Amino acid sequence: MYQAPLPKEFADLSQEEADFRITAAKQALGSRLVILGHHYQRDEIIKHADFRGDSYKLAKDASKCPDAEFIVFCGVHFMAESADILTPDHQKVILPNLAAGCSMADMANLFQVRNCWRELEATLGSEMGVVPVTYINSAANLKAFVGERGGTVCTSTNAPAAVQWALTQGEKVLFFPDQHLGRNTGVKLGFDPDTQMCVWDPFKPLGGNTPEQLRAAKFVLWKGHCSVHQRFTVEQIEAARQSHPGVNVLVHPECPLEVIGASDFNGSTEYIIRAIESAPAGSAWAVGTEINLVNRLAQEHPDKTVFCLDPQICPCSTMYRIHPSFLCWTLENLVKGDVQNQIVVPAKVKHFALLALQRMLAVGG
Ligand code: 13P
Ligand code: SF4
Repeated sequence: MYQAPLPKEFADLSQEEADFRITAAKQALGSRLVILGHHYQRDEIIKHADFRGDSYKLAKDASKCPDAEFIVFCGVHFMAESADILTPDHQKVILPNLAAGCSMADMANLFQVRNCWRELEATLGSEMGVVPVTYINSAANLKAFVGERGGTVCTSTNAPAAVQWALTQGEKVLFFPDQHLGRNTGVKLGFDPDTQMCVWDPFKPLGGNTPEQLRAAKFVLWKGHCSVHQRFTVEQIEAARQSHPGVNVLVHPECPLEVIGASDFNGSTEYIIRAIESAPAGSAWAVGTEINLVNRLAQEHPDKTVFCLDPQICPCSTMYRIHPSFLCWTLENLVKGDVQNQIVVPAKVKHFALLALQRMLAVGG
């Protein structure tokens, strides 16, 4: 989404000034404000968060503060939308920079997914038994799409449980937008990626498949990916094992299947944090996820060796758009009674999107 440039006063703030003014505005707003921070946020932002978490935890935390008037979401657009869906109308959800989107979420839109559904129906018949599952990294109208069709949302924390649930509701799963999380989850549940899964390319007729391939598939995986996690490779894992013999390799399930296969452990952001927290002193960890989180884990655990698998820096460029200047601007406007950058999901979309998110929370982790 478009974000107007900040007034010069904010754009030119030094780190110390921004920090001081954010703290002051937070104090002025008191219990009217809650700040949520995703683990991939930079340190200068995360230090101001009342709750830190991955997308699953923050979706739950959003509804834990019924008295806060303002929920300032330091994360990306789809997360703020989910918070708006899960909280009552009197709570205003605010995204400090509207340009903080998610390139993976943008890889599937409602027009394309509706088109895919119609083509699947035309090929498999209207009683096709396909259950749509969308990763939480998707627009609210796609969550509503799955909610209306008996499907669910999942996160990287609960993807296996959500997909298992979906397979009790129908024969096949249409999983979007992340092909890697879909494939890794299917493999975790014992399905064969070569014979039981096909990839849906939204730019090709039938997603680039034959009718026979679609009939045989248990999983139809949308051709989307995360530009941060798709960068990790088996070669990087081999290099880490050579430079640090005995290292534990821990990656996020948005990484490609061969990377998951070559790693020792994989799991969501919260899983990665818990694994390192509970590891013995002296152990070494090569981590395949976003760099802000990896650097923070390294700082917080000086008794362990924690480093990023990718020697080139791999930040999530959209998470990075929540700069302290934007947070300062947002909060000072709230103090003045001026609500900027409110994220409002239309009521019609909210209804079915909420249903899908409630199914996700009911399935649990
Ligand atoms: P988590 O569900 O682990 O928070 O992941 C969200 C995300 O965007 C990862 O790239
Ligand atoms: Fe999206 Fe990847 Fe950034 Fe997560 S890390 S918000 S999936 S682009």
